[in-house]
Amino acid sequence: MEFSELITKRQSIRKYKEADVPDDALLEMLGAARIAPSGKNMQNWHFVVIKRKDLIDKIADAVLKCNEEISSGMEARGVDGTEADKANIPQGAGVAQAPDRFRKFVRNFTLFFTNAPVLVVVMGQTYLPTGYREMEAAGADDDALRRHAHLASPGMQSLGAAVEHLMLKAVEMGYGGCWLTSANYAAKAIEEIVVNETDFPYALLRNEEKSSNEPVIGGIDPTYENGWFMASLISLGVPEDGAKSPGRKPLEKIMTLVK
Ligand SMILES: Cc1cc2nc3c(=O)[nH]c(=O)nc-3n(C[C@H](O)[C@H](O)[C@H](O)COP(=O)(O)O)c2cc1C
Repeated sequence: MEFSELITKRQSIRKYKEADVPDDALLEMLGAARIAPSGKNMQNWHFVVIKRKDLIDKIADAVLKCNEEISSGMEARGVDGTEADKANIPQGAGVAQAPDRFRKFVRNFTLFFTNAPVLVVVMGQTYLPTGYREMEAAGADDDALRRHAHLASPGMQSLGAAVEHLMLKAVEMGYGGCWLTSANYAAKAIEEIVVNETDFPYALLRNEEKSSNEPVIGGIDPTYENGWFMASLISLGVPEDGAKSPGRKPLEKIMTLVK
């Protein structure tokens, strides 16, 4: 398939046919992820490829439980989604939702992965960007360090490159999937499942015993450089027809040409 056709054909697939994705096809997709570029060639990724339906369902249960804890936690604080409430909820980068909308969201945009024959848990390894230690040694303040480590995180950019390689290879081979970060609020629970139920070979970022007594460097836990964490999920399968994708911003809105 021509590259232009491939990138045009790619869509987020949330409905799947009842068909398997054979292991050798998965290996080819992972092979495509393997050769993706990464900052410092860190290859800071590990893909836990799950075909066991009971485990996929267990992950979905963990997400649902976490969603319910957050939704009922909002209700317990009297948050009902009115404009006044929204103003009181720290917004961060997103828009806070009413509890029932948050419950609905998990059903529409997350739990569809239980209908896919394959769920990939994308695990990432942290690393500090170039210049971090030097900035620290030069006395940079916590905000500057945190911004440098997290905002344009090279580690996350690398993971994005690998995931897109995987997804495009899937499309080329007649499969499709959806890249999901909407379950990330349940990352801790999903990581526990990964550690307890699979052969995932690395230590998680979280190291509560250690970090509680150690000084925090620039707002970052000292274990930051070596820990693994869940970055996203990918559902994979044979696409049902009829997936719809939203439109895109016009080119002039996303680029600035300097001549
Ligand atoms: C980093 C990332 C996270 C995403 N998370 C979700 C998700 O949790 N649930 C979902 O249904 N779609 C998710 N998507 C898919 C986007 O909604 C989708 O890419 C976008 O709407 C454009 O549609 P298209 O992929 O069909 O072209 C995600 C995409 C990316 C790149």
